[in-house]
Amino acid sequence: MVKPVIAPSILSADFSNLGCECHKMFKLRADWVHIDVMDGHFVPNLTMGPPIISSLRKAVPRGEKDGQTTHFFDCHMMVANPEQWVPEVAKAGGDQYTFHYEATKDPVKLVELIKSHGLKAACAIKPGTSVDVLYPLADKLDMALVMTVEPGFGGQKFMADMMPKVEALRAKFPNLDIQVDGGLGKETIGVAADAGANVIVAGSSVFGAKDPGEVIQFLRDTVQDSLKKKGLLDE
Ligand code: DX5
Ligand code: ZN
Repeated sequence: MVKPVIAPSILSADFSNLGCECHKMFKLRADWVHIDVMDGHFVPNLTMGPPIISSLRKAVPRGEKDGQTTHFFDCHMMVANPEQWVPEVAKAGGDQYTFHYEATKDPVKLVELIKSHGLKAACAIKPGTSVDVLYPLADKLDMALVMTVEPGFGGQKFMADMMPKVEALRAKFPNLDIQVDGGLGKETIGVAADAGANVIVAGSSVFGAKDPGEVIQFLRDTVQDSLKKKGLLDE
């Protein structure tokens, strides 16, 4: 049983105004904000790192509601040496640390390291990586991320051919948070939700919308309906 989680990606936000942009997203009922950390090695782009997460955390303190952490920072680490940044992201105020399977030699040890720093642990796979690699890890993970674009840039086209990976994961792990990231918006959420994704990252479709709150609501409603139909909705 899982819940819909909508996580706007601040990669598409106004970088001169990041604290306000995060506040705005939470006010519009985003569940998490998704923070894309890129190092120019694992992906051909540079974005933000622990100092920015730390500033954002000061501007957007954590809270608690119904026993859950509010203002949750979902950190997507597109970095070559994911082991290196765990202590800094924890100290900076990240809540979840998503490493890429392709970037580590020992994913089990990395999950343990992440958890030992009080972070939730998630593992991402690029479009070229088989979903099978996640099966032995899934029970140890708080979330699995199936990339629906090549990581590195916002505003790319959603790869519908990744949906069999989501379906296979959902069939095996009905209680796992399954995230999709890349090209999600009102036109593509239907197939992703029907495949079984419940954690939705959306950058350009939310920040580029006239009414971002309406897009967030639409994404949530679509996931909620699909989960309900499958009997997977945690109410
Ligand atoms: C891509 C990032 C995504 C990106 C998604 O490497 O991981 O989180 O922000 O952007 P959209 O939703 O515009 O595809
Ligand atoms: Zn991302």
